[in-house]
Amino acid sequence: MASPIGLLSGRLALVTGGGSGIGRAVCHVLAREGARVVVADLNSIAAEETKKHLDDIGGRYEHLALPVDVSVGRSVQSLIVDIRGKFNAAPSIVVNSAGITRDNFLLKMDENSWNAVMNVNLKGTFLVTQAAAAAMLDDKVPKSSIINIASIIGKTGNVGQCNYAASKAGVEAFTRSVSKELAKYNIRCNAVLPGFIETPMVQSVPDKVKEKFKALIPFGRMGLPEEVAEVVLFLASDRSSYVTGNCIEVSGGLAT
Ligand code: CAA
Ligand code: NAI
Repeated sequence: MASPIGLLSGRLALVTGGGSGIGRAVCHVLAREGARVVVADLNSIAAEETKKHLDDIGGRYEHLALPVDVSVGRSVQSLIVDIRGKFNAAPSIVVNSAGITRDNFLLKMDENSWNAVMNVNLKGTFLVTQAAAAAMLDDKVPKSSIINIASIIGKTGNVGQCNYAASKAGVEAFTRSVSKELAKYNIRCNAVLPGFIETPMVQSVPDKVKEKFKALIPFGRMGLPEEVAEVVLFLASDRSSYVTGNCIEVSGGLAT
């Protein structure tokens, strides 16, 4: 049941990649804390499923599922137009969780795999952040928080992931730059850097590689999407009102 006096009561949140994994867990936690949530995903069926779960939690607010391809400017523009049309306001919380992997060794990495990962993970974060921030300013939203889901891999690097690691390091640098530009509008921008989290994204990792990683994680286990979502909640809420430009690791101690 959503709390009537939750940490996010009355706030409007947009979560990309909300149809699965970390994004879906973020939608649940934000809705639990009283936010109205727009679940946006390339997979519209998955987005609707998340919305249905949110509706089942209950609470005062109606949630919304919308399709988007974050790597395409016009798709992102339509998303923001649709949200403003429906709610008469820009979201004051944006979580950029849409992301993909196309893993391969450097010497076998083709150009399409490089471009696909850059376009969704890095360009997609730029497009959504830019469109949402412009709408926040137009609608004079008094305080806003943008949270980008980067990855510990952007710091450590990883065998088989030169494209993904570069995209996530880019998201960190993007986050720090944007935080400096938007602070004067009372828009905060932070990133969360998850380690290995049990979601569909890691299901394709070969078991022997998963075992190698587990051995390196001080907690000795992979994280749960909910454990990432609670840190996103902190960054979305006023509990972090003086925090911007930060990149918080949620990795069970797996570090550089
Ligand atoms: N770390 C350490 N060793 C790795 C590795 C990794 N990430 N990936 C592959 N290797 C090793 C394998 O263990 C294997 O070692 P042995 O020869 O000793 O058995 C060797 O490299 C060759 O691997 P494959 O036989 O699997 O080679 P392949 O050509 O069939 O596949 C690959 C290559 C696509 C890179 C595949 O190995 C793979 O998917 N690796 C996992 C990459 C990975 O770690 N992805 C993380 C996804 S989760 C995520 O990205 C979320 C996040 O932010 C953490
Ligand atoms: P997931 O694969 O479960 O979910 C990703 C979601 O993004 C899917 O619903 C997918 O449809 C959506 N998506 C993909 N491309 C899209 C696009 N172009 N436009 C809109 N939506 C799109 O993955 P997971 O694990 O939930 O990952 C979420 C984020 O967390 C990603 O950015 C990922 O890189 C990051 N991350 C994940 C970690 C993990 O171990 N699972 C660790 C560190 C970071």
